[in-house]
Amino acid sequence: MTIKKARKIAIANEKGGVGKTAMAINLAAALTLEGKNVLVVDMDPQHNATIGLGVAINDEMENIYHLISDPRASHAQDSVCRTKWKGLDLIPSHMDLSGAEIEMVDEEGRENRLKEVLSDIEDAYDFIIMDTPPSLSLLTINVFSAADEVLVPCQTHPYAFKALGDLFDTISEVQEEIHPELKISGIIPTFFDRRTRVSRGILEKLHTDQRYKDLVFESTVRVNSAIAESSDIGKPVVFCRTRSYGAQDFMAVASEYLRRK
Ligand SMILES: Nc1ncnc2c1ncn2[C@@H]1O[C@H](COP(=O)(O)OP(=O)(O)OP(=O)(O)O)[C@@H](O)[C@H]1O
Ligand SMILES: [Mg+2]
Repeated sequence: MTIKKARKIAIANEKGGVGKTAMAINLAAALTLEGKNVLVVDMDPQHNATIGLGVAINDEMENIYHLISDPRASHAQDSVCRTKWKGLDLIPSHMDLSGAEIEMVDEEGRENRLKEVLSDIEDAYDFIIMDTPPSLSLLTINVFSAADEVLVPCQTHPYAFKALGDLFDTISEVQEEIHPELKISGIIPTFFDRRTRVSRGILEKLHTDQRYKDLVFESTVRVNSAIAESSDIGKPVVFCRTRSYGAQDFMAVASEYLRRK
């Protein structure tokens, strides 16, 4: 008998507000609609993925902070929350996570904490999707170390395009120093607005740049207010506004991901 092992996907970009969290929760949701079992791990102290999946956390609940700060004292399973949707689970985050980095600074194996934590539960899922904070911190390094691959949402804006180079350099360093098998499996253009020259121009650059062109998804995530509105009410757009551009785009991203894999 072969034991199923989840594919672990980091959603990362050091630039803030490029659509990482929207991608994490909606790609996860879209994959469940394809019949997959998915766990979202919220590794951002801002805990936007937790909010966006409608999970209300309180101080008594086990969350990712407990797992990361003392993996031997906690069990990953105790931190897993079921969401309202079949096949979609979450390990929630909490503001306390921002302190974990300082607490772990001198500890041995600090960059492998999340990897250890997930090894206990990964056979229960097809995919584990990890959301990251908008900075290169020990939290993001933990995600890279635990991941098989990185998916990069890139806002179709000049600053975001410029920041992509820094992210690729960071990932090269991670590959050299801690995780040679880590691969970048895709760049997904986000906040695409066909009406603006800037947005079209950056999409064109992504598709022609030697470093990026083979990684860029054909699918884009267009600017769509339903995405923000649905995360505000704690529901992925693919579940609650099924006819919106946002829902259509994330479904297309998920099926392209499954095809490319
Ligand atoms: N394609 C889109 N169109 C319109 N709004 C979007 C789109 N994608 C995301 N948003 C909204 O834009 C805001 C920023 O997106 P999101 O939180 O996903 O970015 P992020 O990269 O995770 O940000 P951070 O770096 O702070 O974690 C959120 O309010 C989100 O709901
Ligand atoms: Mg985010």
